[in-house]
Order: sequence, then structure tokens, then C-alpha cells
Amino acid sequence: MNETVETRVLGTSDAEIAEAGQRLADGELVAFPTETVYGLGADATNDLAVARIFAAKGRPSFNPLIAHVPDLAAAEALCDFSEDARRLASAFWPGALTLVLPLKPGAPISKLVTAGGANLAVRVPSSPIATALLRAANTPVAAPSANPSGRISPTTAAHVLSGLNGQIDAVIDAGPCAVGLESTIIGFNDAPVLLRAGGIPAEVIEDCLGVQLHSHSDGDRPTAPGQLASHYAPKGPVRLNVVDPEPGEFHIGFGEVKGAVSLSQTADLQEAAASLFKVLHIADATGRNIAVAPVPDIGLGRAINDRLTRAAAPRN
Ligand code: TXA
Ligand code: MG
Repeated sequence: MNETVETRVLGTSDAEIAEAGQRLADGELVAFPTETVYGLGADATNDLAVARIFAAKGRPSFNPLIAHVPDLAAAEALCDFSEDARRLASAFWPGALTLVLPLKPGAPISKLVTAGGANLAVRVPSSPIATALLRAANTPVAAPSANPSGRISPTTAAHVLSGLNGQIDAVIDAGPCAVGLESTIIGFNDAPVLLRAGGIPAEVIEDCLGVQLHSHSDGDRPTAPGQLASHYAPKGPVRLNVVDPEPGEFHIGFGEVKGAVSLSQTADLQEAAASLFKVLHIADATGRNIAVAPVPDIGLGRAINDRLTRAAAPRN
């Protein structure tokens, strides 16, 4: 464990956002809300600051980070956009979409952000707090989800503190995240590829491009380096598609399957996405084994099932 620091909890006043932006510009680690999940931000141009993200999360350094910028123009200063990439950016930015694009030669991004590769993952978040912070920091901000590597993603400042208190300089508390699942990640080889299912359903992206997305995995090898089999893991084991739980299991419901807590009693996938990580954190805190009701594998359900499958996977 690293030396601990005092983690300051900031609100969303102009002065506090300005302070958070200054802290980022000074090389500090600041967790902040986006519409998807809370991110752990650092100045993406500062090697030392980015290295601190990997240390705080216990994240493998071969796993690259997403650079967050306030608008398309700032993204275009860093990456080369193909026609398809520009179409997706104008349809879904600001929002829960990350594009993996060729990094422009000379763009001032730390090699730790791209894990030394030629491509940068870039995203323009829609949360107004995130936008204000990115403008205040006045630099691209590298931000993975603000959880210890491999654990459940945070959708509140309390989740962030439960995993990273003492490891980061500050967190901005702006309440729960609206989407609740990480961004959808699209890469471009010859054709557009779904690297991670997320807050914007793959079908919606396919409609926009007029083509089918290739899948994110190439056999057993995940294409996005962070797509490891075990991720989002509570401490206890997790079983999926469970209608009738075993005695002692903490049962997470959906729709008609009631459970101890429900992702959505009305079987609304948007509500289920927004509550998924909160419910997993609640289940985790009971210390019990976890059983989860079936969730349909369409639309946002695909991203929900992606996260649940990784939460249930054998731990590394
Ligand atoms: O919604 C989100 O995307 C959140 C918020 C904070 O913006 N961030 C997030 O970051 O989920 P993280 O680090 O937890 O997940 C980023 C994923 C990882 O699977 C990583 O391997 C992949 O993006 N990634 C990053 N850069 C990449 C690159 N250059 N090529 C391929 N995959 C990349
Ligand atoms: Mg993550």
C-alpha cells in the first residue's frame, strides 16, 4: 500500500470546480463524476501524474487510459478522425461513447496513457460538472473508473471513497451518475469494432453507421486490453440467471424476479443500468454470496450482462 494522503471531498460550486481543475493542472489525482461512472482524473500530459493513477488503482500498466476532453475540437487536436469516427462523434458526443483513434504525431499525451501504442481512446463526457472541470483543468484528463483495479465501478462519491480514500487527493461529490455503466468503446481497424459494450447500445451505433459492428473479442483474446475476464468483482462469488436463489444467497432481482433488491422492478433496462453498480456495492457489503436474476441480452442489457459475466468470472 502507498503512503496515504488526505482525500478532500469537494462540492460543485464554481470555486470548488476551479480548485479541482487547478489540482489536476498541478499533477494531483482528482476523482470526478461523469454521466457514466466516477473517473479518477490526472493530467494526461504529465507522466508522473498518470503514473499515480496506476499506483492508486493497482492497475496493470499495460492497460491504457481514456483521455477526457471538453469538446470535439479538443479531441481533434489529439487524434485523426476518419469519416465514421466523425459521424459517431457528432451523433453521440458529448456522451457515453469512447473512440479509439490514431494519436496525432506530436500530441502531448503521456505514453503511459496509450500504453506506448499508436492509438488514443478519447471521450467527451456530457456531465456538466465533468465539462466544467475539463475546461478548468485546461488539459486532457486521463481517467479510468475510480475504483481499485478489478473491483466494482463507482457511481457515487461514497463508492469512490470506499475504494480509494487516502490514495487520491480529492473527489468531487455530485451525487449518483445518470447512466451508471461505462462508455461504449469503438475502435476502427478496417471496419468499426465494438471494443466494450457500454452506455450507448451497440444497436444504436450500428444504426448511425449503417453497418454491423465487429465483435470486441478475437477468439478468447480481448481486444480492449482492460477487458479481462474477471472485473467488477465483489468479494464473494456471483451466480447469474438465478430465479430461485440458494439459502443464504443475496438475490438481486429484475422485473418479475423480485430478489432482496431489484435492478428494476419494471424491467426497465435504463433503470437497471443506472442501479447496477450501486446494487452490486450493496450486495458486496453484506459479505454474502450473490445470485442475480436473468437480464435480457438486448440494448443496454448487453452491457449489463457483460459487466455481470465479468463479476461472476473466476478471479485471477
Ligand atoms: O465511461 C467510461 O469510459 C469511464 C469514465 C470515467 O469515463 N472510464 C472508464 O475507464 O471506464 P477504464 O479505464 O475503467 O476503462 C477504459 C477501457 C479499458 O478497457 C482500456 O483497456 C480501454 O478502455 N482502452 C483505453 N485506451 C485504449 C486504447 N488505446 N486501445 C484500446 N483500448 C483502450
Ligand atoms: Mg474500469
